[in-house]
Amino acid sequence: MLKGKKITVGIAGGIAAYKAAELVSGLVQSGTVVNVIMTDAARQFVQPLTFATLAGNAVYTSMFDERYTGEITHLDLAQKADLLVIVPATANIIAKAAHGIADDLLSTVILATGGPVMICPAMNTVMYNNPVVQQNIAKLRQLGYYFVGPASGSLACGTSGLGRMKAPQEILQVIKQIFTGGDLAGVKVLISAGPTLEPLDPVRYIANRSSGKMGYHLAEVAMERGGEVILVSGPVQLPAPAGVQLVKVETARQMHQAIIENFNAVDVVIKAAAVTDYRPKQVAAEKIKKNEDQLLLSLQKNPDILAELGRLKQHQILVGFAAETNNLEQYAQAKLKNKNLDLLVANNVSMPGAGFDVDTNIVKIFCQNGTVTELPLMSKRAVASRILDLVVRCRNEQSEQ
Ligand code: CTP
Repeated sequence: MLKGKKITVGIAGGIAAYKAAELVSGLVQSGTVVNVIMTDAARQFVQPLTFATLAGNAVYTSMFDERYTGEITHLDLAQKADLLVIVPATANIIAKAAHGIADDLLSTVILATGGPVMICPAMNTVMYNNPVVQQNIAKLRQLGYYFVGPASGSLACGTSGLGRMKAPQEILQVIKQIFTGGDLAGVKVLISAGPTLEPLDPVRYIANRSSGKMGYHLAEVAMERGGEVILVSGPVQLPAPAGVQLVKVETARQMHQAIIENFNAVDVVIKAAAVTDYRPKQVAAEKIKKNEDQLLLSLQKNPDILAELGRLKQHQILVGFAAETNNLEQYAQAKLKNKNLDLLVANNVSMPGAGFDVDTNIVKIFCQNGTVTELPLMSKRAVASRILDLVVRCRNEQSEQ
C-alpha cells in the first residue's frame, strides 16, 4: 500500500521530535522512500544521524545545501513527494504555513508543495488553544491540509491536556488510509455528538452529561477512512476534526432539524449525541428569581430523533447508542428493535473507564443480525474504529442482499 511511495517528513522543533523516529521507521518498513527535513530547532532535540540511519538517506537541514546542485533540489523534496508530513508541527511552523512564510528549508518546502500535506501538531495546551493558533489551523484546514491530532494526555511541560502528538502508529495508519482511499471512501456519514441544552430562562438550562469525545473520535476516524462527514454537534469543548462539515446546534429540536435536513443525502447515521429527552415547557423571558422554597418545572418530551430516523430509514445504516446503568443487554436489544437500528452501541456508564468525560469506553455492540461484539476497556478512538468496522460490514451485507 505504501510501497514505492515518496514521503517527505518535516521535523519541527518540539520535544515530540523523538517520536518522529518511530514514524520514519514505520514508513521505511512499509516500503516508503523517506526524505527527512529538520529545522534548526528540531536538531536541538534529536540528532540528524538518527533519522539518516532510519531513512537510509541523508537528512536535509539547510536551504543552501550543496547537494541541491546535484540530483535533488529543495523543490524536488516538495514536488516529487506523494505526501509531506510535518511531525511534530509546532505553533511556529503552523503559523509560517498559514501565512506563506518561507524563511528556512521546511517552510519553503511546505510552500512549494502542490500535493497533500499532513500536519501533526504538538504543543502546550494553552498555546494550542490560543486563538491565533486556532485561526491558523482553521485556515490551513480550509485549504485542504490534513490535521492528525493533537491528542490529550500528559505533556512535556508537566501539565496534562490537549496538545500531545498523536502516536506514530496512529499517524502511520492515517497515512495508509490516505493512499488506499479508505473503506469509507465516498460514503456520506452523519454523526451527532455532544449534549443538547434546553433553556429554562436566559441564564439556565437543563442538559445531559456528555463531553462529545465519542462522537468526535467517530467523525475523525470516519474522515480518515475516506468518509464525507457531517458532524451535528451540541456544545462541547473539542476542536472539530479536520475536513468534517460541522453543524453546531444547542437544543434537541435544532439537532432534530439539522439531522432530518441531511438524512436523505447520507448513507450512514451514527447518533452518539446525548439528547436531552425533555425540555422545559416554558422558557422564562427573564431570569427566574429564587423567591420560592420549591420550584416545580414542567417538562415536555423532545422528539426522539433516532426513532424517527428508524421509521424514515431507506438505504441508510443506522447506529444508535445507549447509556445504561442496569439491565444493559435487555434495554439494548429493545432499543435496537424498537428504533429499527442496524447497530446499537451500549455502555454501562456506571463502570469505571466507561461513560462521560473519560478517554476510554467499555461497550457491547448489538447487531441487527443477532451478533454481539463485546469489547474490553479501550480508548474511545479504538472503539470508534471498531464501530466503523461493523458499519462497513453492515454495508457489505446490505449490498450482497
Ligand atoms: N436519542 C435521540 N433522540 C432523543 C433521545 C435519544 O435520537 N430524544 C438517541 C441517542 O442519540 C442515542 C439513543 O437515542 O443514540 C439512545 O439514547 P438513550 O438516552 O440511551 O435512550 P432513550 O431511547 O432516550 O431511552 P431511555 O432514556 O428511556 O433509556
